[in-house]
Amino acid sequence: MKFLVLNGVNLNLTGRRERGVYGEETLGSINAELAAFAAAHGHSADFFQSNLEGELCTAIQNAEGKYDGIVLNAGAFTHYSYALRDAIAAVTVPVVEVHMSNVHAREAFRRTSVLTEVCRGEILGFGKHSYMLALESFWL
Ligand code: DQA
Repeated sequence: MKFLVLNGVNLNLTGRRERGVYGEETLGSINAELAAFAAAHGHSADFFQSNLEGELCTAIQNAEGKYDGIVLNAGAFTHYSYALRDAIAAVTVPVVEVHMSNVHAREAFRRTSVLTEVCRGEILGFGKHSYMLALESFWL
């Protein structure tokens, strides 16, 4: 299977911002680990990060017919982007929502996700392992 790992706004700063919350590893190193993890199970993964909501919507639209699943950490867009929600609803590719932190143990605004309802599932709170678990969910 072929997967798309999508990261949204500010996730490019992973490893540099709020290290106590998001860890010390960069997104590049997490992605390298994910690529190796997928390959070890006979799958492949492509990676895309953007701070722009529309670019993420386009990536989801373009995933139709090309990928078997999307792992999506939309960052703060999670909490209010109806555009991303509609993009997910518009494609048949299953999307698993991911968060590194336990968003339910943080500020109240993080407890709302406008995406979960149109996603296959959600994995949160396990740092970089949230991405691994989300990927693995596609072949379990
Ligand atoms: C996040 C949680 C979001 O609330 C936050 O805006 C992020 C990262 C996470 O991975 O824990 O940017 O999605």
